[in-house]
Amino acid sequence: MSDGPTYGFDTLQIHAGARPDPATGARQTPIYQSTAYVFRDAEHAAALFNLQEVGYIYSRLTNPTVAVLQERIATLEGGVGAVCCSSGHAAQIMALFPLMQPGCNVVASTRLYGGTVTQFSQTIKRFGWSAKFVDTDDLDAVKDAIDENTRVVFCESIANPGGYITDIEALAGIADGAGVPLIVDNTSATPYLCNPISLGATLVVHSTTKYLTGNGTVTGGCIVDSGKFDWSANDKFPSLSEAEPAYHGLKFHETFGPLAFTFHGIAIGLRDLGMTMNPQAAHYTLMGIETLSLRMERHVENAKTVAGWLESHDLVDYVTYAGLPSSPYYERVAKVCPKGAGGLFTVALKGGYEACVKFVDSLEIFSHVANLGDARSLVIHSASTTHRQLTPEQQEAAGAGPNVVRISIGIENSEDLIADLDQALNTAHS
Ligand SMILES: Cc1ncc(COP(=O)(O)O)c(C=O)c1O
Repeated sequence: MSDGPTYGFDTLQIHAGARPDPATGARQTPIYQSTAYVFRDAEHAAALFNLQEVGYIYSRLTNPTVAVLQERIATLEGGVGAVCCSSGHAAQIMALFPLMQPGCNVVASTRLYGGTVTQFSQTIKRFGWSAKFVDTDDLDAVKDAIDENTRVVFCESIANPGGYITDIEALAGIADGAGVPLIVDNTSATPYLCNPISLGATLVVHSTTKYLTGNGTVTGGCIVDSGKFDWSANDKFPSLSEAEPAYHGLKFHETFGPLAFTFHGIAIGLRDLGMTMNPQAAHYTLMGIETLSLRMERHVENAKTVAGWLESHDLVDYVTYAGLPSSPYYERVAKVCPKGAGGLFTVALKGGYEACVKFVDSLEIFSHVANLGDARSLVIHSASTTHRQLTPEQQEAAGAGPNVVRISIGIENSEDLIADLDQALNTAHS
């Protein structure tokens, strides 16, 4: 697609980054299943390794199929560049890697996917990094948590599992005031529902495993750079602002300007961490992303209908869907996710843990799986699965207590989903 007029989202989700294959004319993006690429000559090889020319060397770094997906997601998010990697969790480590050093910390929301809470509270300690968890609705607490060793503020736009909406603009203002970037995990919202960069985020991360692929086939991740952060404004980010010994003294910010983070992610992040997306995965995600807006509209429509029905059910305590007027986040949806509150929420059942386990075992259309964002409706009891490693206090803070079931609403007929939920609720209480 040429740099021409600005196209709408539906056009870009199909065309951005792709053009007919120059060798064959293939209209669909081919799966370039090749590990390496032949250099034109020795001079060409040297220019590629020196980052003086952009091209393909080795598929741990770059691959033409993956490159189309990177450009597609960067365009949809309104960023200047993107780096795809092997999973959403890989994207999070890859996003932190250029910014952190031993002794540095991340100020992170308490409302995050359970795996991210574990990654941040336990695993990153091995790198000498740490996390401070705060309720991001308490903006003073966020400000207080930031200290001289903080390098990042991290949140989810629509938080898994509760579907809570984060005030991205307010957090971006605080992060900006402290001279650090805001990273937003936009997995549950997707760029169709939420555009964190337009609300002030520096970086956006995705588990492309979820809605972007949309069919439950492959794991993947992506980091999108807004290109707007001045990495040289203070001395907190030497890997970007100063001579980087891991790339023979290259100064990434000085050399690549707004693309510094993206080049660093490929030239050092993928080169040395090796969390690479494979071209088959990129292909499946490219297939899925073509219909993103259509699917997200249906996810939102179905979620509103099903959550509203559940809320009025006798056997239900409460439903957390932010698209319901009863939600404390209802007003915020219009500002953060103008096209809707997504398809993810939790339902608290009367009867607690026992009722929840019986309920998930009784569902027929809904699959009991550790996933979300599929075309299929999915369900999971977070406290005994995805949020199992968390303390009871962390589970409550994340909205994943023992009486709560997470629901990822698919794009089936909503009346069929309601009938299935109804029979399972009745069985759970029989
Ligand atoms: C919001 C969110 N972020 C990140 C991840 C991690 O993604 P992946 O499973 O692709 O590593 C998940 C996984 O469920 C998630 O829900």
